[in-house]
Amino acid sequence: MRIGILGSGLMGGKLGTIFARAGHDVVFSYSRSRSKLDTLAREAGKSARAGTPREAAQDADVLLLAVHWNRVDDVLRQAGDLSGKVIVTCSLPMNDDDTGLVVAHSSSGAEELAKKATGARVVSAFGTVPSEVLFAVFESRDGDARPSLVYCGDDDDAKAAAARLIRDAGFEPVDAGPLEVARYSEPFTLLVARLAYEGEEGPALAYRFERYEERE
Ligand SMILES: NC(=O)c1ccc[n+]([C@@H]2O[C@H](COP(=O)([O-])OP(=O)(O)OC[C@H]3O[C@@H](n4cnc5c(N)ncnc54)[C@H](OP(=O)(O)O)[C@@H]3O)[C@@H](O)[C@H]2O)c1
Repeated sequence: MRIGILGSGLMGGKLGTIFARAGHDVVFSYSRSRSKLDTLAREAGKSARAGTPREAAQDADVLLLAVHWNRVDDVLRQAGDLSGKVIVTCSLPMNDDDTGLVVAHSSSGAEELAKKATGARVVSAFGTVPSEVLFAVFESRDGDARPSLVYCGDDDDAKAAAARLIRDAGFEPVDAGPLEVARYSEPFTLLVARLAYEGEEGPALAYRFERYEERE
């Protein structure tokens, strides 16, 4: 697939590199440093290049949105019309000092994004992957028990594209249902990320997703 990376920091940089090495055409965009984008593209291999958000979006089958919540409006404005595009978002709706969620309970960052990027096909995924620990997880991709990664969205074709990328990154995709499920998975994501950074010292975490039923 042709994949545009909107936000080439920890998440966008590492996932974009993995996608390029898995054979996808990747355009890294949105950094304060053009030379950083060039370096990322060079190190990711032949199928990667650097560009502007508009160039990343232009011919993309899929866009990975990986910017801090306070940069979402700016990067979307720079990317231009995204109607019909699949946007896989890992951007959590956090406040400026990253201490809490700014969208919760009655909506989610993913649902708010779907309103901002009119006509785009939004899938919420990769939110639970702290990028610094991604490579250890990636190394286990050939093992028997690949770690699962939850995703949600309302468009089956968009979700199929996201599921392929989730597999390419070494995880087993778990379809959690419609985009509305992001209301539950985003706070959970935050918790998982915090626990992950506690490493071996952190508590063990068990979880279960109930099947989501549409309510009246
Ligand atoms: N890091 C994780 O482990 C992780 C895990 C799950 C979800 N997330 C979520 O993913 C999103 C991205 O996180 P991240 O850790 O990848 O963030 P990050 O490393 O700060 O990356 C953000 C990117 O946006 C760019 N950017 C910021 N301000 C800009 C501006 N004014 N103009 C142009 N580019 C600008 C940064 O540019 P520079 O290259 O110049 O810094 C960087 O490339 C967040 O919503 C976060 O909650 C992160």
